[in-house]
Amino acid sequence: MNCIDIKSGSRLEMENKEMGETERDPVTGLSAKDRDAIRTSWAMVNKDAQANGTALMIRFFEEYPNNLDFFTEFRDLRPEELRDSTGLQQHAMRVMHALTCVVDSIDDAHVLIGVLHKTVDSHLTRGIRVAQFTELFDVFARFIGDVLGEKFTTDMATAWQTTAATILTVVEARMKEQLIAGTSSSSSSQAS
Ligand code: HEM
Repeated sequence: MNCIDIKSGSRLEMENKEMGETERDPVTGLSAKDRDAIRTSWAMVNKDAQANGTALMIRFFEEYPNNLDFFTEFRDLRPEELRDSTGLQQHAMRVMHALTCVVDSIDDAHVLIGVLHKTVDSHLTRGIRVAQFTELFDVFARFIGDVLGEKFTTDMATAWQTTAATILTVVEARMKEQLIAGTSSSSSSQAS
């Protein structure tokens, strides 16, 4: 499955090639060293995408149980049935796939933003807002450290903190933009 139909080779990617180890991408706030830390850590987590994705979603619902309400397909299951639910596993793989797309496009902020916009747009219609994404990334920040254990370096922790903050900034901006656009188009259609 492709990440998104946006051509790479943007101005940012070209600028990145000329950046030094510690210089930060103006959009993502990540240095080349940070981006390497993201790629290395994600490769380890994604090796077992199904199990880790499912464990992430389970932990998300344990820590923020209200979010289960959005998932009509499995919200009524008993806690011990959740892990085996096809719906939960599907969403887990979708999240893992999108995060792989984010990591794969970490050198090209244009593509990365496109992946996030697509996710925001499909979730807005389900009533999902910044709070839900913030909660997911709050869990994710601790989850990745627990999965990698001693292999999780301080550089990786810092790089993921910056990445999560960037993701949430992009998510929030897109939500505001889409909600304002929705409000103005519905008020203009009411007016006409
Ligand atoms: C990185 C974050 C996330 C990614 C990449 C992601 C990805 C996806 C994808 C690809 C789909 C199915 C296709 C579609 O877009 O319609 C989906 C569906 C859905 N997502 Fe997410 N999602 C994320 C976070 C969340 C969060 C935080 C919630 C709510 C707490 C949520 C709730 C849902 C629901 C209710 C559905 C419909 C049921 C389903 O298909 O399982 N998602 N998500």
